[in-house]
Amino acid sequence: MAPRHFLTLLDFSPAELDALLDRASELKRGHRAGEDQRRFPGKVLGMVFAKSSTRTRVSFEAGMAQLGGHAMFLSPNDTQLGRGEPIEDSARVISSMVDVVMIRTFGHDIVERFAVSSSVPVINALTDSFHPCQLLADMQTYREHRGSIAGRTVCWVGDGNNMCQSYINAARQFDFELRIACPPGFEPDAALLAANGDRVSVGHDPAAAATGADLLVTDVWASMGQEAEQQDRAKAFAPFQLNAELLTRAAPGALYMHCLPAHRGEEISAGLMDAPDSVIWEEAENRLHAQKALLEALLDSAANA
Ligand code: CP
Ligand code: NVA
Repeated sequence: MAPRHFLTLLDFSPAELDALLDRASELKRGHRAGEDQRRFPGKVLGMVFAKSSTRTRVSFEAGMAQLGGHAMFLSPNDTQLGRGEPIEDSARVISSMVDVVMIRTFGHDIVERFAVSSSVPVINALTDSFHPCQLLADMQTYREHRGSIAGRTVCWVGDGNNMCQSYINAARQFDFELRIACPPGFEPDAALLAANGDRVSVGHDPAAAATGADLLVTDVWASMGQEAEQQDRAKAFAPFQLNAELLTRAAPGALYMHCLPAHRGEEISAGLMDAPDSVIWEEAENRLHAQKALLEALLDSAANA
């Protein structure tokens, strides 16, 4: 039987995602209480990173160790992946030796092709199109502070990038309204928008999108791979900063998030980043707990297949 993968949020049903977030919070409480969570001795996670990472690498590697297994860092610079070995051949070989694989890369088609040839579950740890693991942490964080996000309004301010597109999928799976405010020309994928037009809208006015929102979210203006566009983007995105003034338009008690790494004074003001009640740091920590719940779900599904 083909293994279960997590390439986008759509790979799990809304009910499965809810259960996963419950489990993530349970694992978090247990971890903080010093619980022994080593359920998967001898299991190995292969981690393929074609782009840089701090949070994703640390959370997957620490998480796998806490679950009793082992994580192996694989970079295209020093594996045959960087010398042109076909993705399909690499997937076949790597998955014959490990129990689960996570991949961070450029084109989303690369993780899809890897998954087709993999005999074990594959996790998308960020592509140019989607970053579903971050959404697990964001949704866990919202729920822990404010309860269910169903029926709420989320405002995305900034680039229509991989994070924004994952918020579009999240709007569907977690049942909220998403208002996107981006500069003209930086909208998310048109087909993805068209498929979610019942709950996702796009405009170019951050203040209008933020009005009454329960959650404001932003991300860098130039993603990994777009470094050469940094300066041009900074001009186009200047009116799209998440700051205290924008937050005053949101609903009382609104939260704000950023997946990090951030540029203080660009997409988010230093004041919000460093506010004592910011949940951004807990959002980052929740990557650990949410991904442990994800690893557990995928390893259990493989064991029961
Ligand atoms: N948010 C996130 O994925 O961070 P890293 O790029 O550091 O992994
Ligand atoms: N949109 C950013 C997210 C980093 C976690 C990027 O792809 O670089």
